[in-house]
Amino acid sequence: EKVVLAFSGGLDTSVCIKLLEEKYNKKVITACVDVGQPEDEITRPANLAAQMGMEHYTIDAKEEFAREFIFKAIKANAVYEGYPLSTALARPLIAMKIVELAEKVGAENIAHGCTGKGNDQFRFESIIRSHSDCTVIAPIRDLNLTRTEEVRYAQSHGIPLPSDKLYSIDENLWGRSIEGDILEDPMVETPEEAFSWTRSTEDAPDEAEVVEISFEEGVPTEINGELMVPLDIIRKANQIAGTHGIGRVDIMEDRIIGLKSRENYETPGAVLLIAAHRALEQLVLTREELKFAEIASQTYSELVYNGLWHEPLREDLDQLIDSMQGRVSGSVRVKLHKGNIRVLGRESPFSLYQEDAVSFEDKEMDQREMAGMVKNYGIQAACYQDICRRK
Ligand code: ARG
Ligand code: SIN
Repeated sequence: EKVVLAFSGGLDTSVCIKLLEEKYNKKVITACVDVGQPEDEITRPANLAAQMGMEHYTIDAKEEFAREFIFKAIKANAVYEGYPLSTALARPLIAMKIVELAEKVGAENIAHGCTGKGNDQFRFESIIRSHSDCTVIAPIRDLNLTRTEEVRYAQSHGIPLPSDKLYSIDENLWGRSIEGDILEDPMVETPEEAFSWTRSTEDAPDEAEVVEISFEEGVPTEINGELMVPLDIIRKANQIAGTHGIGRVDIMEDRIIGLKSRENYETPGAVLLIAAHRALEQLVLTREELKFAEIASQTYSELVYNGLWHEPLREDLDQLIDSMQGRVSGSVRVKLHKGNIRVLGRESPFSLYQEDAVSFEDKEMDQREMAGMVKNYGIQAACYQDICRRK
């Protein structure tokens, strides 16, 4: 029987190759889905697979990731407990691409390298099970392996491992997740060497940088007046914000299974684009829309985090959000400096701001007309205070 393994070239999935052959007696086909991780994270698994004699596929899904996942996340301001959901958003797409490949090569099984402790097992398997009849194999979880045991197994089976990788890292276009090793102690400061997309505040330029980001219907289209395709605009946002030390997230995260875990992320582009997007929304959405968008965002983010991308409510929310985002077009000017983003200005043809009316110099809107409205304002609270006084 054949098995398609979602292969990143990291410790877990490298060990999986040999386990699938040795313990499960399968013919292994490896596949790496390109969701915008750095180039060497695409070539490394390909080379490793070749070295181990595997039939290997690289599946380019980065355009689709940008358009169909990241752009939806921007429109929804999707953030879970401070985490812009970079890993969580890519999992369903990776799973769908693996399902397609399994069908193409006629595999009866699909394998992943997730542990039984994290979130990714839910995200992969919920999609695989609802899109395919393949049997799911999770060797690391099945055999209850620790990372130390995995390293030992790799060494005794001639599995080449990157020696410079201390942490468990997941990267894609929307961010970089860093876990494990000394970071498991929440009181330990994340060492500088753990980061690769962002500069520290100390190393960020002393000079601030002003950036103008334009949006069309809720998604970014231009940076500093230059029209860019989704992939490029996200890369550019990562590069600019990362340089200024923006987007380092260090949180105690609540996993699906209820465990708290210490998580580090580098998501410079996400933090920048969502901050700008929110600033524009404040200008064009009504108070009622903003209030409801907040609720929609929270639910949307939880669905994504919890691996329920294929849940109909997510699609329903996308329709609602798209409808509101129809007016989220315009530009936001921000200043980036040593880890900070300051909104300098915003403009839109759909602005709801009435400068004339709000101005203290205006006489058009007659202040006297407000007296009646103000007089009875807070009438229920007034009744309550009255009762308190009588007691
Ligand atoms: N806790 C994050 C999430 O649930 C990241 C998980 C993947 N990280 C990793 N190092 N493999 O999305
Ligand atoms: C894993 O446990 O395999 C990776 C981390 C996660 O899924 O949250």
